[in-house]
Amino acid sequence: MEPTIAKTEKKEGAGVPIDTLKITDTRTNKQYEIPIDDGTIRAIDLRQIKIDDADFGLMSYDPAFMNTASCKSRITFIDGDKGILLYRGYPIEQLAEKMSYLQVAHLILYGELPDKKQLAEWTEHIRLHTFVHENVKRLIEGFRYDAHPMGIFVSTLAALSTFYPEAKHVLDQDTRQKQIWRLIGKVPTIAAFAYRHSLGMPYVYPDNDLSYTENFLSMMFRVAEAKYKPSPVLARALEVLFILHADHEQNCSANAMRSIGSSQVDPYCAAAGAAAALYGPLHGGANEAVLRMLDEIGTKDKVPAFIKDVKDGKGRLMGFGHRIYKNYDPRAKIIKKMADEVFDVTGKNPKLEIALELERIALQDDYFVKRKLYPNVDFYSGLIYQAMKFPVDMFPVLFAIPRMSGWLAQWQELITDPEQKIARPRQVYLGYQRRNL
Ligand code: CMC
Repeated sequence: MEPTIAKTEKKEGAGVPIDTLKITDTRTNKQYEIPIDDGTIRAIDLRQIKIDDADFGLMSYDPAFMNTASCKSRITFIDGDKGILLYRGYPIEQLAEKMSYLQVAHLILYGELPDKKQLAEWTEHIRLHTFVHENVKRLIEGFRYDAHPMGIFVSTLAALSTFYPEAKHVLDQDTRQKQIWRLIGKVPTIAAFAYRHSLGMPYVYPDNDLSYTENFLSMMFRVAEAKYKPSPVLARALEVLFILHADHEQNCSANAMRSIGSSQVDPYCAAAGAAAALYGPLHGGANEAVLRMLDEIGTKDKVPAFIKDVKDGKGRLMGFGHRIYKNYDPRAKIIKKMADEVFDVTGKNPKLEIALELERIALQDDYFVKRKLYPNVDFYSGLIYQAMKFPVDMFPVLFAIPRMSGWLAQWQELITDPEQKIARPRQVYLGYQRRNL
């Protein structure tokens, strides 16, 4: 007999209506009533459901967290069916149009956009922390000339923990605040040093007269100029890309940041773990994978054959699909619109026409339509990065720089949430029971 789960019903208890879920366990015919709060039941409430006293109790099984909320959060909201993304309630389209990355980082971290004074202070704190210890430079110099910059980035984040041992006092708010300034201030420097290392070029120190993105471009591309002044269009485009990548609720790397952070390790080690999660091709490494895919396809006429291979299971259409979005990713829409402004300055990326053709065919094809696979943030971002002369290897790093604000906001929320404890999932054990040698 199938177990029956009774419909949710309203119950009037002590004046407060409580929604509950009634469960009948057909193994025992016992009935249970479990409270529903914020559209969820607590998995721990299932534990009371037992076949006898020796039974451990019922658990839920949810590989890949397909339907499990791991936290309560007030940072980012996504409606995947409608293609809506809000940071602290503000639509991503408005933030991308009107704000700077540092304004948005402040919003994500502290819940509100900064006023003039707050913005000046916040910017100053970040500026004061853009330099890295000379030994960090030496650490980066120790990598092979062809080391992937994301490997350098991940390792250097972890290494920072040895430079700031006080960061381990994660329960102290002032200490946490200082590491937030440091991490947001230093990530562009580490990223740019990793790039310069691959070229064997001298590292460019931060120029604190410049904005956050201008300074990053200067550290990346300055050669012999007395003062590097990037194109305002490109600096703004990077600003928008940074805003779009700043947070995305409980994605794989945010979950890594929270999971590692729940052990109360310092934020440098937790951020290194988050960046490592981001590096994978199914997550932030997808922007790099998209460009490699476009290279492999080569010309527009090869697109139908490529799509057929994808449908035959010979690989994925990178930059398409999303766990949450079952509609066009709003970030991809903004990037696609912005691409023309960038290409007016840089010249058109010849791979754009392959990407447009992929999108055109995929959006009409039953395979993609049925599975609700649409372009995600990584589909068009790489084309812009490449036109701006960033090498393909740098793409995941370009994702990681702005995502630092999101990781830190998720980490702060975790540390200050009295309900959170060390993350420790359960398992369904299917191996041998005890056996003797
Ligand atoms: N190309 C072809 N088929 C796909 C794709 C794709 N890009 N994505 C999903 N599918 C198919 C998949 O094969 C499955 O088909 P079936 O039901 O026949 O087995 C179905 O769609 C559902 O896919 P899934 O793997 O169960 O979905 P998921 O939610 O576990 O995966 C994803 C989400 C983003 C990992 C996946 O869509 C993917 O691998 N996309 C390509 C990589 C990518 O662009 N990642 C960037 C994500 S957005 C930015 C970020 O998070 O960093």
